[in-house]
Amino acid sequence: MRLLNRSAGRLSRHRRGPLAGLAVVLLGLLMTGGLYTVFSPAQAGSAAASEEQIAQGRELFLVSCAFCHGQNGEGIRTQNGNQLGPSLVGVGAAAVDFQVGTGRMPMARPGAQVPRKPQTFNDDEIAALAAYVASLGPGPAIPDESDYSVDGLSDEERQQAITNGGQIFLTNCTACHNFEGSGGAMPRGGFAPQIRGVEPRYIYEALLTGPQNMPNFSNGNLSPDEKRDVIAYLASLEDMPNYGGFGLGGLGPVAEGLAAWVLGIGSLIGVAVWIAAHTTRSTKKKVEA
Ligand code: HEC
Ligand code: HEC
Repeated sequence: MRLLNRSAGRLSRHRRGPLAGLAVVLLGLLMTGGLYTVFSPAQAGSAAASEEQIAQGRELFLVSCAFCHGQNGEGIRTQNGNQLGPSLVGVGAAAVDFQVGTGRMPMARPGAQVPRKPQTFNDDEIAALAAYVASLGPGPAIPDESDYSVDGLSDEERQQAITNGGQIFLTNCTACHNFEGSGGAMPRGGFAPQIRGVEPRYIYEALLTGPQNMPNFSNGNLSPDEKRDVIAYLASLEDMPNYGGFGLGGLGPVAEGLAAWVLGIGSLIGVAVWIAAHTTRSTKKKVEA
């Protein structure tokens, strides 16, 4: 305590005059501001999108999306409390690029699942829609190719990324998407889709925005490098040879083990029963004789 007091005294002796205090406060403010710009996520819609693009996006939005999402993207509830479409304020350009880019939006009809379907809009229109929604409120930006590409890595680094990505995938994704990314059922009639062959950009955006029942893996939970590693791992599954035999849908060790158990042990039991039946008959014969 004494020590603390003494050092505090020394500090205040060094900080002379009101001007010095002001300088300290200013320096503190500058540093927080600087750190904030360094660490805060990039926001789309600020620099990249032009007024013109936002206006074009708004026009498309009014025609194709406002019916469910509202004139200003504020969301619409029906009278019985169901949601026609959620608010899009703050979902960010990444969510629009994912939803419209994978053809999920505009949604055709309400249901437990919004499936992937062919795109309705071309790339320019999707960019305009994304710019408009991003202008409603800050949210995650569309990732840049450098965020998810492994092209710049050496062979060793790439191998490392795949290994790391595989571990992340095992702990975070297999529960819903299965070991080989072949997808699986979800509660209330939904399903987690097969994610092999999905474009890296949409994988990144799905992680960033957590569509529907998928949790969102923000950059705080799963850093951009970790997202890239997961993408590298999924790409490596594409290159994996099929080792023949019955695939069993790649349902993982449980199903494959179960099949081996039922078929293998099952046939052994069959043979044992057959042998037992035959030996009984021969002993019976012996008794008769
Ligand atoms: C028929 C109604 C309907 C139409 C039309 C529609 N949406 Fe949607 N949209 C929904 C519903 C419902 C959801 C929520 C899906 C869910 O999470 O289960 C949604 C979700 C979204 C999301 C994801 C929000 C988030 O939290 O990540 C985006 C982005 C989106 N819509 C954009 C659009 C755009 C852009 C259009 C027009 C091109 C559009 N939607 C047209 C009903 C609609
Ligand atoms: C709680 C279950 C759940 C978990 C955990 C989960 N997902 Fe998903 N995922 C879903 C559902 C449900 C969808 C479908 C959303 C939709 O159709 O809008 C989805 C969609 C996706 C898509 C989009 C596929 C397409 O057809 O465009 C990708 C990519 C994806 N997930 C990757 C991942 C990865 C990688 C992880 C792990 C880091 C993960 N998911 C964790 C449930 C989950």
